[in-house]
Amino acid sequence: MKIRIIVLSVLISSILPAYAQIDVEKKIDELLSKMTLEEKVGQMNQLNFDALTDDLVGNLKVGNVGSLLNVTDPEMVNQVQRIVMNESRVPIPLIIGRDVIHGFKTIFPIPLGQAASFSPEVVEEGARVAAAEARSTGVTWTFAPMLDISRDARWGRIAESLGEDPYLTGKLGAAMVRGFQGSGDLASRDAIAACVKHFVGYGASEGGRDYNSTNIPPLLMRNVYLPPFHETIKAGAATLMTSFNDNDEIPASGNGYILKNILRDEWDFDGFVVSDWASMGEMIAHGFAKDARQVAEISANAGLDMEMVSGAYIVHLAELVCSGKVPEEAVDTAVRNILRIKFRLGLFENPYVDTSKGSVLYADEHLKSARQAAVESAILLKNENILPLSEKTKIAVIGPMADAAHDQLGTWIFDGDKNYTVTPVGALKDEYKHINYVYEPALGYSRDKNKANFEKAKNAAQSADVAVVFLGEESILSGEAHSLSNINLIGVQSELLQAVKSAGKPVVLVIMAGRPLTIERDLPYADAVLYNFHPGTMGGPAIWDLLFGKANPSGKLPVTFVREVGQIPMYYNHNNTGRPAPDQVSMLDDIEQEAGQTSLGNTSFYLDSGRDPLFPFGYGLSYTQFDYSDLVLSSKTIPVNGSLKVKATVKNTGKTEGTEVVQLYIQDVVGSIVRPVRELKGFQRVTLKAGESKTVEFTLTPDELGFYGRDLIKRVEPGDFNVWIGGDSKASLKGSFVVE
Ligand code: GLC
Repeated sequence: MKIRIIVLSVLISSILPAYAQIDVEKKIDELLSKMTLEEKVGQMNQLNFDALTDDLVGNLKVGNVGSLLNVTDPEMVNQVQRIVMNESRVPIPLIIGRDVIHGFKTIFPIPLGQAASFSPEVVEEGARVAAAEARSTGVTWTFAPMLDISRDARWGRIAESLGEDPYLTGKLGAAMVRGFQGSGDLASRDAIAACVKHFVGYGASEGGRDYNSTNIPPLLMRNVYLPPFHETIKAGAATLMTSFNDNDEIPASGNGYILKNILRDEWDFDGFVVSDWASMGEMIAHGFAKDARQVAEISANAGLDMEMVSGAYIVHLAELVCSGKVPEEAVDTAVRNILRIKFRLGLFENPYVDTSKGSVLYADEHLKSARQAAVESAILLKNENILPLSEKTKIAVIGPMADAAHDQLGTWIFDGDKNYTVTPVGALKDEYKHINYVYEPALGYSRDKNKANFEKAKNAAQSADVAVVFLGEESILSGEAHSLSNINLIGVQSELLQAVKSAGKPVVLVIMAGRPLTIERDLPYADAVLYNFHPGTMGGPAIWDLLFGKANPSGKLPVTFVREVGQIPMYYNHNNTGRPAPDQVSMLDDIEQEAGQTSLGNTSFYLDSGRDPLFPFGYGLSYTQFDYSDLVLSSKTIPVNGSLKVKATVKNTGKTEGTEVVQLYIQDVVGSIVRPVRELKGFQRVTLKAGESKTVEFTLTPDELGFYGRDLIKRVEPGDFNVWIGGDSKASLKGSFVVE
């Protein structure tokens, strides 16, 4: 009997979602049959909320609005929902959108920081906490995860990205979608709809200048920029946002090939697509539409479901349908997509916020998760046997980022409250109040050029055993529209570091920034460097946990650190070129005066900064050391549709427990198109006690081994493959196999 019940319940649970889906589609059909063309177009219109004006009330009542963004007061959410549910002809709840990018109230490290954890668990937990807090205030839709592959640190939005690698971005992006959307039941009061963005290629903005054109050809698009979106759509992402950039001369918000051929026909996406802020209307500035009417025609025919704030659809789309410029079926399809997500969010059953429930904002367990995320997101770049510090050490705490409650949170903080930030100095006044320290900021903020307090800073260092110098970027220096052409430590921070070092004591440099900075010049003045991509609300205690060794740094770089801004773009998964530079190259000092036309090697490098970056992708130190050995392949040859297991032994050869991000890279040595010298195709966080070893195993399937060829079809090609396992993208433990 019991078995029968189990079988029955398994059957029901597998049939239910499909049955529920049929039920939703039927409900959508019923709704559509009642709606006028104008009411359908109203669902495709998103407005920004400033205040409940008469004009807005009027639009809500007649069904001109499908979504509002930036309504943050739960009572106001209930007020606008009551209008559309009780006073409009066809009651359809609003979907309320908000940029909940790396936390709602409890702020986690910026996405680039979370990526440094190489931990899907950290990323999923951060999104789960954000969703619970956001939905408790009536937000049901976030505009995240941002999946733009970012190879240019001049671009301010690298801060929001998950770095330069498609595999890492896909895996962590899928984890963020799961965190936002819960176990799959979008109607849960802890879930909000994710929105994967910016579709597509925005991170390749030429010159790192935001909103600039991108020039991504089809093969690069298929093999680098599209895969994270496909990965997250397979993970169930409910919505997607188009990007500002024109790629290959076509603005994304008018690009039917990516919105229909790829997104719908190839990937079978059944959620809805929203434009970016006015990105539809901006097709006029692009020179791609002559007026708003043509904007509406282009985007509707391209398959863009909802317009964010530029107001072309609501004015022109009904007339375009009546005049035959846009088939009504295109409108019906868009509205179906929108209604489908509203049903899945449970908004028809209950569009209201239960304001009687106790607040979950800044819950202790949320702050604990944020602290753990900040611990795992920090990267130890240098340590000349100075870290970890004893808690008996007298410390000089110096620099403009030591007590920067607002800036520590990083970019895209719509709802985070700096009064909840625990800065490094804040932690020294609370949990770490037993530490003997002296504090001298010396600068008021990262751009401050006033050196008047440098002497004080030097004296503070002289009076202490160790100086811990907190430098970096104000949050306003990264994020949207905040590109920089110089990415050195801004202002006179480097001079402050040098002044502190001149006191003759050991110096620990702690950086909080929204991008990888060019810090080669600063390294000689620091005996240790801990890098934090704006670590969020709990960054302060997390940093002291690491500096005092309560936690062992485990972060790895999700993006290459260049020596000079002029090296950009420089990324690990590059092509080999026909003239790859050797390990040793001629540098300026090697060149004789009046050298004439002697050859300096005729390979690909810079005379002044060489061939290599300062720190490679995947790099990060620990307080212990890890050794790799015994790389073993399950077979020396596999068929093109075959899989392969690769394992290696990792040993903690140091004196303290630590966590290593074990990384696996492959190289398809010869292809019908040029393939990168290395590609990340696996990573695992492994915690080992001193002296402990563990065998770590990865499986390579056609998914990891394949690539899109000139026919834009994914395939695995026969030939030689190399595989490496190690602690960064320079991993040397190597194996080879053949695909037959
Ligand atoms: C912004 C951003 C986008 C954001 C949207 C709504 O301009 O490009 O990422 O989600 O507008 O704020």
